[in-house]
Amino acid sequence: MNMVIKMLALLILAGVALAQNEVAFDYVIAGAGTAGLVLANRLSANPSVSVAVIEPGDDVREDADVQTVDFLFSNFNTSINYQYPSVTSRALGSRNLTYRAGKAWGGTSAVNGMVYIRGDKAQYDAWEELGNRGWNWNTLFASYKKGEHFIVPTQAQVASGVTFDEAFHGKAGPLDLGFPLSLSNGSYYAKARATWEKLGVQSIKDLNGGAPHGFVTAPMTLDPQAAVREDSARAYYTPAEARTNLKIIKGTVKRITWGKDAGRLAVADGFEYVSPSGTMLEVRAKKEVILSASAYRNPLILEGSGVGNPKILNKLGIKIKVKLPGVGESLQDHNIIAMTYSLKEKFLGRIPYATTPTAHDVFGNNTASIASSSLGKIKEYAKQLSTTFDGAISVNAIEKRFRVQHDLIFKKNVTVAELFPTNTGDGILAQFWTSMPFSWGNVHLGSKDAIESPVIVPNIMATDFDVDMLTAVGRLSQQAFATAPLSDLVADNLTPGYDTLPLDASDDQWASFLDGNVLNALHVVGSCAMLPVELGGVVDEKVKVHGTRNVRVVDASIIPSQLSGHTMAPVYGVAEKAAVIILEGK
Ligand SMILES: Cc1cc2nc3c(=O)[nH]c(=O)nc-3n(C[C@H](O)[C@H](O)[C@H](O)COP(=O)(O)OP(=O)(O)OC[C@H]3O[C@@H](n4cnc5c(N)ncnc54)[C@H](O)[C@@H]3O)c2cc1C
Ligand SMILES: *[C@@H]1O[C@H](CO)[C@@H](O)[C@H](O)[C@H]1NC(C)=O
Ligand SMILES: *[C@@H]1O[C@H](CO)[C@@H](O)[C@H](O)[C@H]1NC(C)=O
Ligand SMILES: *[C@@H]1O[C@H](CO)[C@@H](O)[C@H](O)[C@H]1NC(C)=O
Ligand SMILES: *[C@@H]1O[C@H](CO)[C@@H](O)[C@H](O)[C@H]1NC(C)=O
Ligand SMILES: *[C@@H]1O[C@H](CO)[C@@H](O)[C@H](O)[C@H]1NC(C)=O
Repeated sequence: MNMVIKMLALLILAGVALAQNEVAFDYVIAGAGTAGLVLANRLSANPSVSVAVIEPGDDVREDADVQTVDFLFSNFNTSINYQYPSVTSRALGSRNLTYRAGKAWGGTSAVNGMVYIRGDKAQYDAWEELGNRGWNWNTLFASYKKGEHFIVPTQAQVASGVTFDEAFHGKAGPLDLGFPLSLSNGSYYAKARATWEKLGVQSIKDLNGGAPHGFVTAPMTLDPQAAVREDSARAYYTPAEARTNLKIIKGTVKRITWGKDAGRLAVADGFEYVSPSGTMLEVRAKKEVILSASAYRNPLILEGSGVGNPKILNKLGIKIKVKLPGVGESLQDHNIIAMTYSLKEKFLGRIPYATTPTAHDVFGNNTASIASSSLGKIKEYAKQLSTTFDGAISVNAIEKRFRVQHDLIFKKNVTVAELFPTNTGDGILAQFWTSMPFSWGNVHLGSKDAIESPVIVPNIMATDFDVDMLTAVGRLSQQAFATAPLSDLVADNLTPGYDTLPLDASDDQWASFLDGNVLNALHVVGSCAMLPVELGGVVDEKVKVHGTRNVRVVDASIIPSQLSGHTMAPVYGVAEKAAVIILEGK
């Protein structure tokens, strides 16, 4: 046997074959999701740079279920969704939560609710305060606008309540952002607006300029005239599709393959991935590998590659490459609750009118006392969480991160919740959620080869503060639907019903209602947090995994602390900014 054939035979024996055709690219990205396709587009803009994306999902740009802008979860149980189970949390009793994400070109942006909200300026500035130079509202605001193609609303939309500030929007980017044409033209907008003003929440022009406090129509990622969803595949892949230096390869990344270390830094030379037929293949990265496989999956790839908490890696029987205890920890979500109302008269059209209150709106005269009692307990919350993380992040590190969050809530007056109604045709689904809970969970690899099955510990509602906050937001939601003129439209509260949860329900009644009904909002961030190692970080401010020379992570997983928006907009902003950093090559 000649040498080459012998080597190939050895590789095949080892269960690993090099992919046919071209197998080496400058950049190889794991995941053609929301962030992954932003990177694919920006990195391949230069024809001399080659880019491959490994993605288990398919091209769904022409699927009617994906294209529809009338989002009623119609694609929830189909093959383009991951449905990850999770273990229960104490507050949930026998319930446990399912985490969903998109499995398709476009990732979760192809299956989500399309609502586009960036969050508060001070929340971004906190990323810099926590140690990420250059990551603040001003720089992210520029990244947002760069990616955006804002579609100016029609007169009919303005008549249905749409307002906007052109200064907050970009016009030349690839991502369509607008308002659905099917906005309700009835009286809902005017009545809701008047009620919120009565309750002390003023209407604002546009919530995407860093000051979202108020009542306003939320924009969505869609093409209004065509009534088609705008996901990252349509926005970022379609215009780059013809490039010969960009390739999407179907497969599931299992682990990073390592080359020769550069001093103390680990150096990746590619990925090992599973093809659709189950064969293990390899792809080479001449420059860098980038993980954009979601907050659920990036920690699994890192751990499978020997990057993580030694305690966990030892248990899994994985050889340690880079000791990094923060991998998979500090998973942060929003806590969501839904109630339903019947109407005196049904009406047509969407009602994407968001109300985003501050702690003062939510707690009223109790704000100061709640601020000080929760501050007094911060250390206790941090101790409890460090224990939940089995010491992976120290009490001091968590306490520091919690203090920053507490300041955001009570000193910087960021918005702390969102109330968002949906017209279901039969009535109103009144959803509300809290944005900055102190209960965080984690996600890890459960066994060496279980790369499809994240072990998720939600750990939600683990502090009294989180319960108090969601209770207070819930009371505010109830109060809005019971206050004129919005109450003129409402016939009854169908679920849970005023018998179960009257307007004057006690704290105990609320606590048991929340335990039985609270859900994960699917706005998950933080499992590969961009932070210094001492704070439990996984990537540095260049989005590079600590201890490596050329492994980056770019998607929701690197967002170090929660935002009061939804998470898709931040992912687009983060990915646009990261693309520039990667191309700078630092
Ligand atoms: C039902 C639902 C509704 C939502 N509604 C909204 C909303 O209205 N507004 C909003 O702002 N946010 C919303 N979100 C959240 C938001 O969509 C996500 O936070 C965001 O899209 C995440 O982007 P990402 O790039 O981090 O991950 P994703 O977009 O999920 O991309 C990850 C990609 O990696 C792929 N992948 C996974 N494992 C591997 C592997 N091992 N190898 C290679 N590839 C892999 C996946 O198939 C996927 O394509 C919603 C989420 C859900 C689930
Ligand atoms: C999805 O399936 C679950 C379990 O079978 C079911 O309870 C739920 O109603 C389904 N959801 C949709 C939107 O079809
Ligand atoms: C989740 O709950 C269901 C129903 O109670 C149960 O069958 C299942 O085993 C639970 N799963 C986990 C991972 O706890
Ligand atoms: C509202 O829209 C419906 C359906 O398009 C239309 O029939 C109705 O005339 C509109 N009402 C007003 C007040 O514009
Ligand atoms: C809050 O305090 C002010 C001033 O003391 C008082 O006028 C107001 O009634 C209080 N509000 C509530 C809801 O108790
Ligand atoms: C936050 O709100 C409180 C109460 O309205 C106010 O006293 C304080 O000055 C505000 N702080 C900032 C930074 O806006």
